[in-house]
Amino acid sequence: MAEKVTVPELVKMKQRKEKITCLTAYDYSFARILDGAGVDILLVGDSLGCVIQGHENTLPVTMDEMIYHTRAVVRGRKRALVVADMPFLSFQVSPERAVLNAGRFLQEAGAEAVKLEGGVVMQETIAKIVGLGMPVMGHVGLTPQSVHRFGGYKIQGRETDQREAILRDALAIEEAGGFAVVLEGIPAELAKEITGQLTIPTIGIGAGADCDGQVLVIHDMLGLFDDFTPKFVKRYAELKGVMMGAIKSFISEVREQKFPGKEHSFK
Ligand code: KIV
Repeated sequence: MAEKVTVPELVKMKQRKEKITCLTAYDYSFARILDGAGVDILLVGDSLGCVIQGHENTLPVTMDEMIYHTRAVVRGRKRALVVADMPFLSFQVSPERAVLNAGRFLQEAGAEAVKLEGGVVMQETIAKIVGLGMPVMGHVGLTPQSVHRFGGYKIQGRETDQREAILRDALAIEEAGGFAVVLEGIPAELAKEITGQLTIPTIGIGAGADCDGQVLVIHDMLGLFDDFTPKFVKRYAELKGVMMGAIKSFISEVREQKFPGKEHSFK
């Protein structure tokens, strides 16, 4: 467990049928805790647009903001692989722009890989980035940057044509040289089929138990973000309640002049 997680190692984990764990991280303190606990991948997700910045979706997140958060996460990790999420419009406009922005994540922030949404339409772009030595994780199914095209966060791949398109997307990422694919918001059976067809690992979120790994947004799984809780989220803790309790104790102790005590004061 102490060994540094690398891109080739993740592919070998699939071959050995070892499940891969991935959680989002957006700052130094969380990165240290997640890394210390032994998670394999720290994803600096553009989900920070919702859970950190308070936006309704991920579309307003910029490259500079992602670089800022990625730098903080990189400083906090020793073992996990840090993957930076390419925000809206940082990779869709042209392969050249995508290469430059992917390069910024590696050069300016110290990320070891980038993630981008899209399959077949992004095949050329992924191949260019990978061809220049930068590992790419794909992301297909319910891709949040396309929320307006989907008309909301709706499960994708229930109809035959959608199902086939998502399978083609996943295969296109593997063909382009991607090292892993996030499968988001698709039926468990489809995720199982894709996982069986690919030689690179699939990382599921709302995609059932048969993916090669699982990812969750850290604020969701710790119960820190409760604006909405999707069905696929398991809350492993209720930290909002714990925090509220601590903060209320602080407020009442200050008001009642119980804090600071002598042990917190200087002579
Ligand atoms: O932005 C993000 O956190 C993600 C994961 C949910 C896969 O893309």
